[in-house]
Amino acid sequence: MSVEQVKSKPHERLAELLADEMASVNTLIRERMASKHAPRIPEVTAHLVEAGGKRLRPLLTLAAANISGYDGPYHVHLAATVEFIHTATLLHDDVVDESAKRRGRPTANLLWDNKSSILVGDYLFSRAFQLMTDTGNLRVLRILSDASATIAEGEVLQLTAAQDLATTEEIYLQVVRGKTAALFSAATEVGGVIADRPDAETQALYAYGDALGIAFQIVDDLLDYWGSDATGKNVGDDFRERKLTLPLIKAVAKGDADERAFWSRTIEKGDQREGDLEHAIALLNKHGALEDTRQEALAWSAKAKAALQVFPQSEMRDLLIDVNDYVVARVS
Ligand code: IPE
Ligand code: IPE
Ligand code: MG
Ligand code: MG
Repeated sequence: MSVEQVKSKPHERLAELLADEMASVNTLIRERMASKHAPRIPEVTAHLVEAGGKRLRPLLTLAAANISGYDGPYHVHLAATVEFIHTATLLHDDVVDESAKRRGRPTANLLWDNKSSILVGDYLFSRAFQLMTDTGNLRVLRILSDASATIAEGEVLQLTAAQDLATTEEIYLQVVRGKTAALFSAATEVGGVIADRPDAETQALYAYGDALGIAFQIVDDLLDYWGSDATGKNVGDDFRERKLTLPLIKAVAKGDADERAFWSRTIEKGDQREGDLEHAIALLNKHGALEDTRQEALAWSAKAKAALQVFPQSEMRDLLIDVNDYVVARVS
């Protein structure tokens, strides 16, 4: 392994290996996010797209197509579709969550307004559907449109679970599978489906994306209490939004009467004062909730890795395993 490879992160190495195809994906994204009729659209989309983002999901689609021996050309459309769906959900999510920071920049809802974010998000969703019809493949259309519906369900389920201290780990998992893992699993599955691979392989790609996506969101939720500015998002957002994420669910379950009163005031009633976030983090640590959450992320990551075993060893399979390890390494 060269020094260069040791230094770069797995998803960056994946991006290097798939650089030509990723360039085509980026060209297609730029072409399709344009609008001659409403100048606000390119303003908002350029703000988000130029900020970068890891492009993890389109890379996964290209990687899945590659490991499936697909020669193209529609993996590029599928990868762009997946990134459009992702970007649309982020625009909507930042309105719903009233977030101020995304990809290290002020959010579109802050720079413009909620109306622009919602409408441009709708535009990107619609562009995503146009893009995927270009493939002419009904199975991938079905997978990606199912995923879009599932994402929305996950976000709505989360809305009703927020502020509810009775939220269980089971409901949390359902939320995460919906709002995050559904797009990861669709992203990987379509790579195999467009290559017309047998069910054992497309199901393995689905299982890999599903487990990776769950691990990814668990880690994201952990970083919301544990992280730093390096994530490009604000620490403590979930607490302020009174979201029952896994670290909180675990700590609430172990709390005594005093702690229960604290959670009831801050999460149920939303009466949050200075120092509450710090106290919440102290309680999470006291009960080992952050460490237990990290262990769950590791368990999902192991599942993702196991799913890839149906494929023979290859550079691409190794990289997909490394990407998966990296997702949890962000909190080790
Ligand atoms: C953010 O996803 C949304 C979650 C599912 C947590 P990413 O962390 O992949 O976002 P970008 O595209 O790199 O900004
Ligand atoms: C991820 O949810 C957004 C979607 C997958 C729709 P979060 O609200 O937890 O993600 P961040 O923290 O804003 O990126
Ligand atoms: Mg959010
Ligand atoms: Mg959200």
